[in-house]
Amino acid sequence: MSNVDAVVLVGGQGTRLRPLTLSAAKPMLPTAGVPFLAHLLSRIRQAGMTHVVMGTSYQAETFVEYFGSGEGSGLDIEYVVEHEPLGTGGAIRNVADRLRGDTAMIFNGDILSGADLGALLAVHRDADADVTLHLVKVADPRRFGSVPTDASGRVLAFVEKSDDPPTDQINAGCYVFRREIVESIPAGRVVSVERETFPGLLAAGANVRGYVDSSYWLDMGTPESFVRGSADLVQGFAPTAALPGPVGPALVLPGARVHPDAVIDGGATIGVGATVADGACVTGSVLFAGARIGAGAQVVRSVIGAGAIVGAQAVVIDAVIGDGASIGARCELMAGIRVWPSVTLPAGGVRFSADV
Ligand code: GDD
Ligand code: MG
Repeated sequence: MSNVDAVVLVGGQGTRLRPLTLSAAKPMLPTAGVPFLAHLLSRIRQAGMTHVVMGTSYQAETFVEYFGSGEGSGLDIEYVVEHEPLGTGGAIRNVADRLRGDTAMIFNGDILSGADLGALLAVHRDADADVTLHLVKVADPRRFGSVPTDASGRVLAFVEKSDDPPTDQINAGCYVFRREIVESIPAGRVVSVERETFPGLLAAGANVRGYVDSSYWLDMGTPESFVRGSADLVQGFAPTAALPGPVGPALVLPGARVHPDAVIDGGATIGVGATVADGACVTGSVLFAGARIGAGAQVVRSVIGAGAIVGAQAVVIDAVIGDGASIGARCELMAGIRVWPSVTLPAGGVRFSADV
């Protein structure tokens, strides 16, 4: 693996995670105590790859500031910035001159996966493939690239996000590319690897293979999957070597204060300097740095932004609360609601139930 270059695509805007991604790129969001990307990089390092090229665009400088040249994590990280985003295929083409070997392993930057990357590479090499895709089966394939294969593992089609996908076997967002294939992508313009490169390779008769496995897999691109991914990392269900503490029902970061009569469980993360008051219950949620949960409040499967306040007895379920927002006492927010940064809701001002 040490002669395989890892390429990580992290230039997307993370639209589905707004408002959290207004101030931070999706892969930099604190997930189980560290930027999401730290978990993916730990898996890349564990698999034996050391040279990492990151294709950045949105909030590009924040990646360099945190990960630098990668020394601390045993990696050698380079950054290639797209001033205008080039799409997934354009981003891959854009790093071609940084590749050192004849094979690159390319990762979408928002995937948590337990796939055996060595086995993926072995399938690629055994088949002498041009491209090999990691594939997984999911319940609802419409949000993903649907990728049918034949009995030998040869990819038959690539259908990106359709209402009528041909199979529930989907693109898991990790590929092995022969270097020449990277170089064959048109340079200097927007290219979608899913809508243009893969269909084009198949039409041209390229040897495109699938590696199907059933290990842990999650795309953390929506609020629902983001909180689940974080909780799975904290509880040890999702693989990582970057968890900043022991696996358990909750992760409490330095400087956080949790009242002895509060309950934190379900893989909750209590961010740096965050507080959880008497009688509050925080389940399967992510509290960013400095968030404050009032007495008797209930926070379930939600993200509470940096410095945001949840008032006493408030109920917050399946919600995203932006940085610095203030949720008044006894408010009830649920069912996928998103509160924008710095918004203030008065006590009892937003309710879900009719009683006061
Ligand atoms: N550098 C760069 N430039 N990166 C980009 C760009 C770009 O223009 N556009 C997207 N990315 C990065 C994102 O940051 C993310 O890490 C990755 O590419 C995939 O983008 P998403 O926006 O998360 O795509 P998706 O989840 O809708 O679909 C993709 O992933 C699915 C698996 O999770 C597709 O590859 C699907 O086919 C796949 O099933
Ligand atoms: Mg995604």
